[in-house]
Amino acid sequence: MKNINPTGTKAWKELEKHFKEIENEHMRDMFKNDEERAEKFNIQWEDFYLDYSKNRFNEKTRDLLMQLAEECELKEAINSYFSGVSINQTENRPVLHTALRSAKDSEVNVEGANVIPEVEEVKTKIRNFSEEIIGGDRKGYTGKAFTDVVNIGIGGSDLGPVMVTDSLRYYKNHLNLHFISNVDGDHVHDTIQDLNPETTLFVIVSKTFTTMETISNATTVREWFLKSVPEEEVSKHFVAVSTNLEEVESFGIARENIFPMWDWVGGRFSLWSAVGLSISLAIGYENFQSLLQGAHKMDVHFRDSEFENNLPVQLAMLSIWYNNFFRAESEAVIPYTQYLDKFPSYLQQAIMESNGKSIDRNGDKVNYETGTIIWGEPGTNSQHAFFQLIHQGTKLIPADFIGFKKSLFGDKDHHDKLMANYFAQTEALLNGKSEAEVEEDLKNKGLSQEEIDKIKAFKVFEGNKPTNTILVDKLTPESMGKLIALYEHKIFVQGVIWNIFSYDQWGVELGKQLANKILEEFATKEVVNHDSSTKKLLKFYIQN
Ligand code: F6P
Repeated sequence: MKNINPTGTKAWKELEKHFKEIENEHMRDMFKNDEERAEKFNIQWEDFYLDYSKNRFNEKTRDLLMQLAEECELKEAINSYFSGVSINQTENRPVLHTALRSAKDSEVNVEGANVIPEVEEVKTKIRNFSEEIIGGDRKGYTGKAFTDVVNIGIGGSDLGPVMVTDSLRYYKNHLNLHFISNVDGDHVHDTIQDLNPETTLFVIVSKTFTTMETISNATTVREWFLKSVPEEEVSKHFVAVSTNLEEVESFGIARENIFPMWDWVGGRFSLWSAVGLSISLAIGYENFQSLLQGAHKMDVHFRDSEFENNLPVQLAMLSIWYNNFFRAESEAVIPYTQYLDKFPSYLQQAIMESNGKSIDRNGDKVNYETGTIIWGEPGTNSQHAFFQLIHQGTKLIPADFIGFKKSLFGDKDHHDKLMANYFAQTEALLNGKSEAEVEEDLKNKGLSQEEIDKIKAFKVFEGNKPTNTILVDKLTPESMGKLIALYEHKIFVQGVIWNIFSYDQWGVELGKQLANKILEEFATKEVVNHDSSTKKLLKFYIQN
């Protein structure tokens, strides 16, 4: 990957000048002055429709953003990303979650060897295992079929499977899925208290198999299991997903019960690997395969489309426009379906663990803003919670509105109400409500001029709040795969432009080290070498 400071490019300098021309322009006027605006700024691809016309930009902005992408050699970077080159340079690894969903007969080489046959072998193992568990052919130690599956993992070994099984719960079978992630003992005990060891399968997911939370939870669960079950039955109830086969074996899980993964799959991009075993168990292998197929289609679209018609590229460059020129600090993701209620928190790890970096690829501190803060909740609930701030607060918060043309249960009345809100919100955010409109409204309601003057300022909506409207035909495993991959590639593009390494996560290490040290101090009750605040807090805690 080239090492290019984006602020040194011609396009960046032009964008800075251009920003001054456009920053105070209202989108209302942009629409008034250009009837073709919605025609110009949309991308239709398969069952996806992206309208990005409700953004504070024009054709010149788009051209300059595309020029910025060219100057930062995005095309070359995309080729490296898909080719198996070690683009995760700080860990000296390729980044190949895309290989997990590529065609059976494709070839992706890592250090000269094609990895696709291995990927296919693991997929076959996932398929067979899922089918045996779902079909009741593989049974627990007393001969009963499994009813419950517990995924034990954290971060990427939890968030992807949790989010997808939750988002696709309409497609779920009879198995009850549970997720234990937090090292909080209340989480693990609360989850296992009602489980029957005879009919519960435990899937321990940890790429490294050294993560404190996961190993502690897995150990606690195994102890609970062994209270009522002989040790030789563990193999029927515990399987693991990991790259660290030795550690898994020393935990007591037999090799045939291990689903391997590879170090070229990053944790937060791993749901496409055996980390997605609980997804396959919950919705069946065919649906899991459709999820992968959807992601693969998005990969091909991203790799091969011109930047102008490229969904991830457009979304990424717009986000850079707001982050680096408007200095917007956060972005909201608002799905208009309750099924996607976990999607924003999934994206928080994917996006913020990837692009929350301040050192560039040269090892220097960046002199520009990088990773955006991501947050969100489903509409319409969020309209009754934080939308006030988006509409009338002081901060600029670009938002992605994700909606579906069809509902899953087919209740048209509800769906129309939901979608009316989806469209109304982006319209309100664009146009706002002027003082004149407020006055007119209040006059019609019979208020006196004195009353109107007192209240009108509070009722004005400035508008000019940017949104992207992502309208998808229907929530299916395939469209879900496309949606996740869309954001994965947006992350990649932004990392390239910001000249940072998106695929490491050194920022999570320090806290882990200090926690281990504090744990030792809890054991000895000797608190040393801390700042006075932490020392006092630790002593206060230890007293109990
Ligand atoms: O939070 C840091 C992290 O390394 C994530 O990137 C990863 O998804 C998570 O911990 C879990 O790691 P593992 O799968 O190795 O247990």
